[in-house]
Amino acid sequence: SQKTSINTINELYKQNSKLSVLTAHDYISGKIANDSDVDIVLIGDSLAMVALGYKDTNEIPFDEFLYHCKSVSRAVSKSFLIADLPFGSYESSISKAIESSVQLISKGRVNSVKLEGGIEITPTIKKLTDLGIPVCGHIGLTPQRLNSLGGFKVQGRSVDNALKLIETAKQLENAGCFAMVLEAIPSELAKIITENISIPTIGIGAGPYTSGQVLVQADLLGLGGKDSHVPKFVKQYLNGYGASVEAVKNYVREVKDVKFPVVGKHTYKINENVLEELE
Ligand code: KIV
Ligand code: NA
Repeated sequence: SQKTSINTINELYKQNSKLSVLTAHDYISGKIANDSDVDIVLIGDSLAMVALGYKDTNEIPFDEFLYHCKSVSRAVSKSFLIADLPFGSYESSISKAIESSVQLISKGRVNSVKLEGGIEITPTIKKLTDLGIPVCGHIGLTPQRLNSLGGFKVQGRSVDNALKLIETAKQLENAGCFAMVLEAIPSELAKIITENISIPTIGIGAGPYTSGQVLVQADLLGLGGKDSHVPKFVKQYLNGYGASVEAVKNYVREVKDVKFPVVGKHTYKINENVLEELE
């Protein structure tokens, strides 16, 4: 089927059809997302932890993030593709944000960029959208700001913080965002924000009243393993880690027991006269 464009996203939003969004971090996860018909694939900087084992998203260098964008975009033929602007690639100046976005679009082959922040980042958002780069906002829990937030905590619980988030959402819409992620805020607040703006909200840990949902693919597939932390808002649709370890253990056992490979099934046949010459 056809490539999902920003017009398709706007159309789905107008029809009150919930937007399905899933992250991807390489060619295989990109293919899984694309072939599952998600509306939007997000190359989130969560791949710093998920795919590369870094401690937090702030550790990933821009070039490494771009490399992952290239691999995902090769797999995504249908879904609309958003890439995060990683920490350090957009804060210092508008021109830096433009340069980073141009790299992600021209080399990473994504359709749009996402950046974290509120009113302080709206001049950047306005400039990018004026230049024809679709921008997705991201408010609530903004993981790149973990140092000032004091950790990964639910946001918007006090009256002041809730009012600020509602106002910020309006400012992001005015600045030109085509959508925004709401992360880890109370469901009722996400509902109010969603009702107060006319662009889609994409929730993660923000309840069912947003215009769409996003999950980190490795969380959804349960790929993290025993000691990986899974937030409360995640639904694991598969124990992918457990199933994978089980499968690989079977392989190891069959190698030891010489049950794999099976002659005739996994092997190539030699030509009879060649064999005679060799023997
Ligand atoms: O990096 C990421 O995966 C994200 C989503 C969780 C919204 O930003
Ligand atoms: Na992110």
